[in-house]
Amino acid sequence: MIQSDKVIGINKAVQILSDEGICAIPTETVYGLAADATNSNAVAKIYALKNRPTFNPLIVHVSSIKQATAFAEISSENHKVCSYFWDQNLSLTVVLPLKATHLISPLVTAGLNTIAVRRPNHPIALDIINRVGPIAAPSANQSMHISPTSADHVCKSFGKNSPYIVDGGLCTVGLESTILDLSNKIPCILRAGGVTKEDLETYFKMSLNSASKTIKAPGMMKKHYAPACPVILNAQTMQPGDVLLGFGPKTPKGSTLNLSPTGNLTEAATNLFDALYKLEAMKPKRILISPIPMIGLGIAINDRISRAAAA
Ligand code: TXA
Ligand code: MG
Repeated sequence: MIQSDKVIGINKAVQILSDEGICAIPTETVYGLAADATNSNAVAKIYALKNRPTFNPLIVHVSSIKQATAFAEISSENHKVCSYFWDQNLSLTVVLPLKATHLISPLVTAGLNTIAVRRPNHPIALDIINRVGPIAAPSANQSMHISPTSADHVCKSFGKNSPYIVDGGLCTVGLESTILDLSNKIPCILRAGGVTKEDLETYFKMSLNSASKTIKAPGMMKKHYAPACPVILNAQTMQPGDVLLGFGPKTPKGSTLNLSPTGNLTEAATNLFDALYKLEAMKPKRILISPIPMIGLGIAINDRISRAAAA
């Protein structure tokens, strides 16, 4: 059920989460399927509903760095990284060493000795976290399906098994957070996302590697974010039954939707998953997607569409 009244929704979510339940909550990136991160019974329900392999660990959401110090080892350097990005409300997840004494459910970390943590930039999520404590939350979609950027997407992805959903409107960023591994000496980008590589390299004053070769984020499977029909990138010609997701002013006439008619990558990121849900609902033979430049947010957009297209 979708609850559009924020006060009722937040109160009910707090009650559900305090009672070993799970529910969907909005963040600035995508909707999350939330559970109390310290409660294994609750966290197990996330894996079951999403049909997510239990070797794929979850991100813990906090409202402050201080809250994260209860379970993550945060060196003074890494503290600076978190304050720099989180104080600007940027969507950065950091992977940190797990503290020896912590109360996080081992299901959250999938047995790793590191933990992924982020501070969502959404008043509803922050209010709930302030009242419940650290929240484990993957994206609120069936494993492998398109990530949800609206309450309605969550409903579409889970169908009759939909959890309680607190409606916070459309997600402004529209792509998952960037994941940065800070658990080793040299920072490494595990997932492209809302914070660009360029932003991170400016902060660290060095070029950063992406972990695509040594899959360190176990959830970074090749096929992911996939609609029900085939997705074709850089397609040259449309066939009967195809739909075309365009980008920019040069998109061929007859495109079904355009991620950003002016070619703005921020706008395209916000619109991407919603466009995929809309096109999937048209039950086309194939979804064709126009080329998207590999710069800035374009890197994260191309990451998502190439996984959607993976056979
Ligand atoms: O924007 C986001 O990050 C959204 C919203 C809901 O916060 N969450 C999200 O969660 O995208 P999920 O579960 O779809 O992706 C979490 C990713 C997975 O690829 C997982 O493998 C990785 O984080 N991850 C979690 N813990 C990790 C760890 N200790 N080391 C490396 N990767 C980790
Ligand atoms: Mg996901």
